[in-house]
Amino acid sequence: MTYQTLLLDIRLPIAFLTINRPDKLNALSDQVVAELHHAARAVKQDPSVRGVILTGAGPKAFVAGADIGDLARQGVLDGRERAIAGQAMLRAFETMGKPVLAAVNGFALGGGCELAMACHIRIASDNARFGQPEVGLGITPGYGGTQRLPRIVGKGNALFLLLTGEQVGAQEALRLGLVSKVVPPDQLAAEAEKLMRTILGKAPLAVALTIEAVDRGLETTLEEGLRLEADAFALVASTDDMREGLSAFLEKRPPRFQGR
Ligand code: COA
Repeated sequence: MTYQTLLLDIRLPIAFLTINRPDKLNALSDQVVAELHHAARAVKQDPSVRGVILTGAGPKAFVAGADIGDLARQGVLDGRERAIAGQAMLRAFETMGKPVLAAVNGFALGGGCELAMACHIRIASDNARFGQPEVGLGITPGYGGTQRLPRIVGKGNALFLLLTGEQVGAQEALRLGLVSKVVPPDQLAAEAEKLMRTILGKAPLAVALTIEAVDRGLETTLEEGLRLEADAFALVASTDDMREGLSAFLEKRPPRFQGR
């Protein structure tokens, strides 16, 4: 499929996905949401793609939120539909079974912050700005902000950001744990790729099962989460990659994982 609002550049084994509406600071129109959902499915189904890096086009914004023009026209029913569609798209990235990294290159506001939070790892350029300004627009977050933000930065910090609408810079986002690393803008793309290649050098099934155990474990009791972890631990024990990883250590050589 040809996308109107995205650039999908597949340089195996990584899919580089860029939201491409720089004149609107990459705001998430309904079309962007639909195309992102399509791209998430396509990338999930392509076995040669092993990881995804998401970013925004232009020097100013990752994503400056849901498209306020679309929101201005919404009523009760399509508002609900819009939230459900956006949430499903984000969940498609979060559960695709491959690592997804957000390279946040500027404003990540509202839906932009929510998109970044659905990614497994976030790194930012030092000019990035994060925030959930929705209540100042008379709306609530609709793409998971009320749910993922407290899971990432804790209830107190999340409510601070959600209720004040205050923007925070990259260093403050780092302090809050909203991002894992901050780099100069001209190093962001290279750093994102380096990080992804580090992850892709690990055993793919172990990576996928770890993501799943964290994702599902956070939604359950500690007891049940520990059982999920034990199941994942048992599953990897059936893989060639476990034998390869452990043998490589004992033989003092780098492992060669096959994803089997
Ligand atoms: N939806 C739709 N269009 C948006 C947008 C959004 N969320 N964010 C920015 N744009 C558009 C602007 O309307 C403008 O379009 P125009 O040139 O046709 O007028 C263009 O992007 C550039 O934005 P502008 O506001 O001129 O840039 P700025 O540098 O002065 O300000 C921001 C940058 C991010 C502070 C400002 O654009 C902003 O506050 N955006 C909305 C953020 C927001 O509330 N997001 C949550 C939505 S739920």
